[in-house]
Amino acid sequence: MMKDAQLSRREVLRTLAALPLGAQLLACGDGDPQPGATDTAIADTAADDDTAATDTLADDTAMPADTALPDDTTMADTTPSVCDPTLPDAEGPFFVENAPETTKLAAVGEPGQPISMRGVVRGVDCAFIAGAVIEVWQADDEGEYNDDKLRGTLIADAEGAFAFESIRPAPYGDVGGFRPAHFHYKVTAPGFRTVTTQIYFAGDEFLSPNDSCGGCGSDDEARIVALDTDDWGQHGEVDIVLEPV
Ligand SMILES: [Fe+2]
Repeated sequence: MMKDAQLSRREVLRTLAALPLGAQLLACGDGDPQPGATDTAIADTAADDDTAATDTLADDTAMPADTALPDDTTMADTTPSVCDPTLPDAEGPFFVENAPETTKLAAVGEPGQPISMRGVVRGVDCAFIAGAVIEVWQADDEGEYNDDKLRGTLIADAEGAFAFESIRPAPYGDVGGFRPAHFHYKVTAPGFRTVTTQIYFAGDEFLSPNDSCGGCGSDDEARIVALDTDDWGQHGEVDIVLEPV
């Protein structure tokens, strides 16, 4: 009998939790709340033994999904709504249009350190841009570009995400010195300004101010990627943010 009484109480608590506050007060006060009535109800709940309190908390995890939705909305509201646009960088002379659509830029046997890169294409409101086109090209392990390799076209998925595998490009000699290792990205999406930029790697000795390209942006922290290393190779992640047209 005692167990039945406890279950009944839990059901009452569960029902009250799902009601608007006004309805809870009505339910607790028989429709005519008196001064202190709410305090009394709270005191009653607080006075429950630990077991009852635990049961009530556990029941919260099983509450209907629609009861949990307001919390999800609150979390979404805390998401930053301003993302800084990705800065452009020198396109250089090695871009080739219509590179093949692929997520593996390096052919099997291409010398070099395996590397994977990933990111999300977003607007300045931080909303992802599904279907954005990311064209990537790079130097090989000896710092040489070739029109027929180490380049590809990626399509961002339904959540703006993209990823590819390749070999890590090498720094290369240029007029007056060396360029730090980098990927070239050209990112395009309807309704947004195309950005052509370069992605660099943390720790590169040729980053600005040692970059032979004085007009390049190898001092832009947003485009200097810290790479993680595992048995497979290196992994980097950087989002691309486009401005509206
Ligand atoms: Fe380059």
